[in-house]
Amino acid sequence: MQKFIHFESIDSTNTFLKKSYTAFPDFQVVTANHQTKGRGRLGNIWFDDGKSALFSILIKRYHEPSFCTMIPLIAVISLHKVLSSHMKNLMIKWPNDLMVNDKKLAGILTESIVVDGRVLAVIVGFGVNLDPIESLKHTDYLTTSLYEETGIHFQASQIIKDVVEVFDQDLHIFENHIFDALSYYKKHLSLIGEWITFLQEGVSYEGRVLDVTLEGSLLVETSQILMTLSSGEVHLIRRKSS
Ligand code: BTN
Repeated sequence: MQKFIHFESIDSTNTFLKKSYTAFPDFQVVTANHQTKGRGRLGNIWFDDGKSALFSILIKRYHEPSFCTMIPLIAVISLHKVLSSHMKNLMIKWPNDLMVNDKKLAGILTESIVVDGRVLAVIVGFGVNLDPIESLKHTDYLTTSLYEETGIHFQASQIIKDVVEVFDQDLHIFENHIFDALSYYKKHLSLIGEWITFLQEGVSYEGRVLDVTLEGSLLVETSQILMTLSSGEVHLIRRKSS
């Protein structure tokens, strides 16, 4: 059974659950119409103008770090399943953005609370652009929305309900079949076989993406070595076709 709390406006649904995870049960869902301090990956701001589906899910049922590293991957699979039922050409951009024709439609921010090697909570925050967002015109990447891709004004509540339901099922399905999750992920990942430029510890590298590991890292072949790139450490700065 899923439990929902809704805010008209809040700083960030992820921040709220990070601060108060002890007070809520497993699979608590927090939704908002607007966030005043929405956060993205790598310290980015997440703008919404009140035109996004904004929600975070608290997961407290898993404690093994090895499984918890797979949760962001399962989350993007569930989001992909729901959104691709409304449109074509929806691809996953590593690690867990959803893109249509190289324009960003949705993103996921996953944060964990780990004490002495035991995961106490994982917070998975989803942001899906429903209608065109003025503030996003100033970002350095192209964005799109469900309305621009489908011509339909979706209700946030409908998208949230569908994603929460599929994510709940997928966690159960994939907890013992993680290779199935990885194969779905790879099938819809836009980067496999492509050349990328990335920054690691301030140094720029070029390489070809060979694979994704079970931990969700990218395996990249540069001219000298094979590198394993983990999403927290690496900044993809450019993509080009081979
Ligand atoms: C990204 O693309 O960098 C991740 C964006 C995640 C945004 C969502 S919106 C709901 C939740 N609360 C936040 O502050 N961030 C996530």
